[in-house]
Amino acid sequence: MGNYPQVDTVIDHIPDHVAIIMDGNGRWAQRTGKERKDGHQEGMEAIRRVSIRASERGVKVLTLYAFSTENWKRPPQEVKFLMQLPVKFFDRFVPELQENNIRVNMIGFKDKVPGSTKKAIEKAIDETKHNTGMVLNFAFNYGGRAEIVEATKSLFDKITSGELNKKDISEEIFQAELLTNSITPYDNVDLLIRSSGEQRLSNFLLWQNAYSEFYFSKLFWPDFTGEILDKALLDYQNRSRRYGAI
Ligand code: FPP
Repeated sequence: MGNYPQVDTVIDHIPDHVAIIMDGNGRWAQRTGKERKDGHQEGMEAIRRVSIRASERGVKVLTLYAFSTENWKRPPQEVKFLMQLPVKFFDRFVPELQENNIRVNMIGFKDKVPGSTKKAIEKAIDETKHNTGMVLNFAFNYGGRAEIVEATKSLFDKITSGELNKKDISEEIFQAELLTNSITPYDNVDLLIRSSGEQRLSNFLLWQNAYSEFYFSKLFWPDFTGEILDKALLDYQNRSRRYGAI
């Protein structure tokens, strides 16, 4: 446990699956007269702080939106830099993830990701595979609509091959085709956090956010801290989730 006061009230009602849209790296850099890449670099430090705190608080899965299927539209230089981040991140932080019993996972479309990036992610997944604590789940080259389309194709194939009957398709069967089947039973998000003051979903876990609670922070991602995560957890604790019931 870190050297900071316990938030006792948070302890007994922790969301299992917290997902974060880490927004505002570019604006953080602009505000401080730096380059965008410096913002992403600082964003990695925030990932470290927030992952450790989430793990200490008892979160089961922390999903971070690190690169979306739309981020390829950024200037090639920035895309290249973003692709190098996992290499740098895991090089530095895997020992700390090990100390905290954190297991790395990835959801996203691996095909378009450069070899060295893929290798760094796969290595981190392999090195942490025996850890039994929080799953640090990177959404990398991830897009919610593409995920749903791929799940549909997979179900279609199962029907065509006779493995599945159309009448047997249920929400559970559909959900099992999504990329988040790698984090079952925590497929669905309980608390969604977005930094930088923007209030939109940006194609992130569209199915899985159906009943999540949203928490928006005005802070740019590089300024995000464990204390802000605690604030979000406290806020979540005071929400009443009814799932359509009264
Ligand atoms: C959003 O800020 C942030 C990103 C697109 C990238 C987030 C990635 C990281 C913080 C590091 C990823 C690290 C690993 C280990 C995968 P923005 O650039 O959209 O900011 P802006 O809206 O202010 O321009």
